[in-house]
Amino acid sequence: MYIQHLLPQLLGQQQTLIMNFSVTNLAATTSYPTCYSGHLVMDWLYIVNGLVAVFVAFCLLMILSGDSDILLQLMERFGKSPECLTEKVVWITGASSGIGEALAYEMARARCRLVLSARREKELERVKMECIRVGGLSQEDVLVLKLDIKEYSEHESAVQQVHKTFQKIDILINNAGRTNKGKWTSTCLAVDQELLAVNVLGPVSLTRAVLPHMMSRNEGHIVVTSSVAGKLGAALYAGSYFGSKHALQGWFDSLRPEVYSKNIAVTSVCPGPIYTNLLQDALKEKEGEILQGRMDPHKHRMSSKRCARLMAVAIANRCDEAWISTTSGLVSLYLNQYFPDTFKWFVKIFSAKLMAEIDNELNTKLESQTKNGK
Ligand SMILES: NC(=O)c1ccc[n+]([C@@H]2O[C@H](COP(=O)([O-])OP(=O)(O)OC[C@H]3O[C@@H](n4cnc5c(N)ncnc54)[C@H](OP(=O)(O)O)[C@@H]3O)[C@@H](O)[C@H]2O)c1
Repeated sequence: MYIQHLLPQLLGQQQTLIMNFSVTNLAATTSYPTCYSGHLVMDWLYIVNGLVAVFVAFCLLMILSGDSDILLQLMERFGKSPECLTEKVVWITGASSGIGEALAYEMARARCRLVLSARREKELERVKMECIRVGGLSQEDVLVLKLDIKEYSEHESAVQQVHKTFQKIDILINNAGRTNKGKWTSTCLAVDQELLAVNVLGPVSLTRAVLPHMMSRNEGHIVVTSSVAGKLGAALYAGSYFGSKHALQGWFDSLRPEVYSKNIAVTSVCPGPIYTNLLQDALKEKEGEILQGRMDPHKHRMSSKRCARLMAVAIANRCDEAWISTTSGLVSLYLNQYFPDTFKWFVKIFSAKLMAEIDNELNTKLESQTKNGK
């Protein structure tokens, strides 16, 4: 209705032009110019509404068609590429498989110098050879440093060893981690303690050992592989894992403002379901029991390669937080962030149904096993 007012305003023309606009017959039916200020307000409201609608549509499209949060998608297209990290010394824990391994290849392609840590030295040597191959690096560019992240007393000497080899640490990626599978009510405290030791206190201790060197150089970057589990209070039989990742988020969100003035960035990466060996070493409800599970290849999960690429983009752009996931994870994250009560309500309703289904499935399995005399 008000287009005859709007366009000239947008084009910076005088009121008189309005009457000459090609839709003058419309103007004749309005009360212009007596209610001009009222119309002006309405016009601006239409513009604002239109812009908001376009923005919301744009965000929805990005969330539903993308595999990371909107900012990271924009960074991938228009921001710095991981190649800007060339020559940086990057220390990755949990580099012997999964996301850490894929990230090592991503950093090798960017021609970083690498420190690879985990408990299985043989696997680390395999990853090292592949890093040299994909990145065209030399033997001296990659240091294999065996480290159990729970052995806090060894962290200081590990840092010294990295310094002796490369004289600096630019980026520490705290990626090592474990998960659990078991009901909250039946899980023993030893499982909670193990997950807190590996997923939280390990990264905290190693970061404390690395930070003084970064602070003295006025430069550095700490990265933690958190999880969607660190953002959503929506665990099904993985409460200890979810709890540990929430703690990790809290610890490192608190570090970020403290070291900001020292030019040290802190990036929390929150991946959703990624296809890796995470379930192999997962803890069960009783102390010492290991799941030795495999991820269902038919369930839609992102590849560790794609996850590592997006992590590398987040690191190159020094993002505070990065969400990396398939659509269902992203939708949950955005719902949880902007409509927390609605999200909690959904979780309660759907979890109850899902848990009943899982329990039914387990009971049927048990019954058929007892019938078959197993
Ligand atoms: N896969 C997913 O869906 C997913 C989603 C969100 C977040 N994440 C997180 O991503 C990280 C990597 O997991 P992933 O999925 O890549 O699983 P993964 O393939 O099992 O990798 C886990 C890594 O952590 C290392 N690790 C475990 N315990 C350790 C310890 N005590 N000391 C040193 N290293 C240890 C393992 O190496 P060794 O066994 O050789 O020590 C391995 O390299 C974890 O923090 C996990 O929580 C995974």
